[in-house]
Amino acid sequence: MTDQTATPRRFSASPPLKGEITIPGDKSISHRALMFSALAVGTSRVTGLLEGHDVLATADAMRAMGAQIERSEDGAWRIDGVGVGGLLQPRAALDMGNSGTSTRLLMGLVASHPITCTFVGDASLSGRPMGRVIDPLSQMGADIRATPGAGGSQTLPLMVRGILPAVPLSYRLPMASAQVKSAVLLAGLNTPGITEVIEPVPTRDHSERMLRGFGADLSVETDSEGTRYIRLRGEADFTPQNIVVPGDPSSAAFFIVAALLVPGSDILIANVGINPTRAGLIHLLRDMGGDISLLNEREVGGEPVADLHVRHSMLTGVEVDPAIAPSMIDEFPILFVAAALAKGRTVTSGLDELRVKESDRIAVMATGLQAIGARVEETPDGLIIDGTGGEPLPGGASVAGHLDHRICMSFAIAGLVSKEAVEIDDIAPISTSFPNFEALLQSLSGEADA
Ligand code: S3P
Repeated sequence: MTDQTATPRRFSASPPLKGEITIPGDKSISHRALMFSALAVGTSRVTGLLEGHDVLATADAMRAMGAQIERSEDGAWRIDGVGVGGLLQPRAALDMGNSGTSTRLLMGLVASHPITCTFVGDASLSGRPMGRVIDPLSQMGADIRATPGAGGSQTLPLMVRGILPAVPLSYRLPMASAQVKSAVLLAGLNTPGITEVIEPVPTRDHSERMLRGFGADLSVETDSEGTRYIRLRGEADFTPQNIVVPGDPSSAAFFIVAALLVPGSDILIANVGINPTRAGLIHLLRDMGGDISLLNEREVGGEPVADLHVRHSMLTGVEVDPAIAPSMIDEFPILFVAAALAKGRTVTSGLDELRVKESDRIAVMATGLQAIGARVEETPDGLIIDGTGGEPLPGGASVAGHLDHRICMSFAIAGLVSKEAVEIDDIAPISTSFPNFEALLQSLSGEADA
């Protein structure tokens, strides 16, 4: 799973981007489609599944715990599940590669099964904090042994010894995290009684939507302050489903920003998920002056979807309200690139969570953007960026991707709007979430070897 071969790549000034592309499946929804199908008795079918390394790590783990998962020749995936409560003891450690979502959600699933699993991952994942899921899952009765990490954190490799029956929990999320929310809910699936997650700040709701779709008894109540109370009745029976995975808005984000920044661009991005808990970047870029139209709005697999028409635009810097951060949490690296070419100043704050993603995305973006000549100041919880007003960045430097797919793709797009090429030390991580990123980019810029 973990690729040890570094693949450096240079990205340079691009001709106008033109044409139509279809974005691969949503990563968050793909993970959940595999996990939940693996908990249904009978055969589920998933089309549009993202076939990136992260999602394939989830598929391998579910196979190791008893599910049968196969890709058909037509590209659809067929999953024969084991039933809620039916996960089997895997024979070897579960290799999560680079994937925090696989790790945290599967820790939740395992926590309420009478099995013991060891989780391992690559260097990036092994530095990420797991205490945030260990705390609630331990309160439910699981026994979890982790490796001590930097600053007293708990990290991979770790071992989860699940418990049956686990104790239902009412848990107030201490940070805005869909992964923590989902880990507790998934532990609650095989737990008697009601498991409740209290979510003061709404985060992506794909778990709630899809759990209901599979037949779970799940309710969501929102109080006058916007706090969500998500209640799940355990010992659920799942009915197999046919799932169509919409395109990933977090992947579309790179092409949205590329088309806005490269002069003369005019592109159509088909089949993009526009779930309100994910669409923050689209709204923000429109506020900055971005010409983005939502066409053919529809529902696919219980999720809102649209085709996006994006045209080159002069962007204006903004002060970003920290309240919208959860709805675009994975999009800040590419927003920072957009801000570096906007007219005026963009100020972001309240982004502490960005420091514990696949890399410290505040520090890594500040360093890389400064290296290619952008005017950027790092603060404890965000960046302040003074844009060029549409002028290309100087470029002409090599930046480090830090095993972080979104950092690599952000600097690839920065290279398209730089005078001298931007080199990325290793673009291999892009295949964790967007295996055909380069091919789509080449198809839009009319390069022959797409
Ligand atoms: C995800 C939740 C987010 C996001 C990640 C995917 C999910 O993480 O950054 O890429 O699928 O639940 P956090 O829960 O850590 O914010």
